[in-house]
Amino acid sequence: MNRIRGQFRRQKGWQHFGLALCGWFLCAIVAGFPIAVESAEPILIRFSHVVSESSPKGVGAKRFKELVEQRLAGKVRVEVYPGASRYDDDRAILALLLGELEMAAPSLSKFRPVSKSLQIFDIPFLFQDLAHLKRFQESASGKQVLKSMEARGIRGLAYWDNGPRVIATARPARVPIDLKGAVFRIEPSDVTAAQYRLIDVVPLAMPFSRARDAAITGLVNGQENAWSNIASKRLQDYLPHLIELDHTFLSYMLVTRTSFWNDLPADVRRELENIVAEVTAEVNRLALEKNAAARAAVAASGKAQIIEPSSEQKSAWQAAFAPVREEFADMIGRSLIEEAGKSATPSSN
Ligand code: SIN
Repeated sequence: MNRIRGQFRRQKGWQHFGLALCGWFLCAIVAGFPIAVESAEPILIRFSHVVSESSPKGVGAKRFKELVEQRLAGKVRVEVYPGASRYDDDRAILALLLGELEMAAPSLSKFRPVSKSLQIFDIPFLFQDLAHLKRFQESASGKQVLKSMEARGIRGLAYWDNGPRVIATARPARVPIDLKGAVFRIEPSDVTAAQYRLIDVVPLAMPFSRARDAAITGLVNGQENAWSNIASKRLQDYLPHLIELDHTFLSYMLVTRTSFWNDLPADVRRELENIVAEVTAEVNRLALEKNAAARAAVAASGKAQIIEPSSEQKSAWQAAFAPVREEFADMIGRSLIEEAGKSATPSSN
């Protein structure tokens, strides 16, 4: 009997405590006391890149942060790590997969470990000009390439432009034979390495963060890059002969981790997609302006010689690099290369 009474008293005790708690909450609400309800932390997007903040990609990353924090205030926060301050491009892809980053925009030449088809963009003289490249990137095949790394956990969100690659060398060169024996810093692309081996140039793959030191120390006596990157690293001070060959274009893929993107609340993802589209248009417009300005600045520096090859000289480069296409055709996919060829002219429909 005593045990039953004890149990009854304990139950009563809990009921009183419960009532008191509810009462406190009601009073607190009526009196307007702040009740500590844990608010959700904004989603963090860490965006890493390797170039200067004033480059087309650097401006794009900053603009992305600005728009996200305006339109998704309190929901999403963006941290941008520019100039390889945290990760070089090769490490960035790994960091993305490991969940240390949510966004990056590596050069298309840097996806070799995760995509074979992306190497199409390194085939010399496949794309006649920037318009041709853009038509291909916007075609069904180009969009397919954007999705080609989904199974590896990487989602391509957009292509971002920089500009045509210019060859910068310590010695003047008008035809391939002039570069025989040179050592070139290249991006980590098997296709680019093969291209240079064909003309007896030794390719040395190294990160962009080491491009200037490699030129200063004479470790390399040649490189290739877009005007905006040449000017930002002042490569013309050490590699003053600049050959406008337009053999390939420096272009980027804005990427995120597939699982991160899929797990976003639908409304947040939609807004981010809108922002990506808006920033992409801005970056691509800016790329033209910034490369033209960088070219003009290098020309005005009085330190550089800009070499525009004659059509005969250009044919010599085209003939020298031609075997690359066949060498990599099976690996990249012959049909994809054919599709790229079809984008040479605007389609009639
Ligand atoms: C970049 O523009 O992101 C770097 C390209 C390079 O590695 O040369």
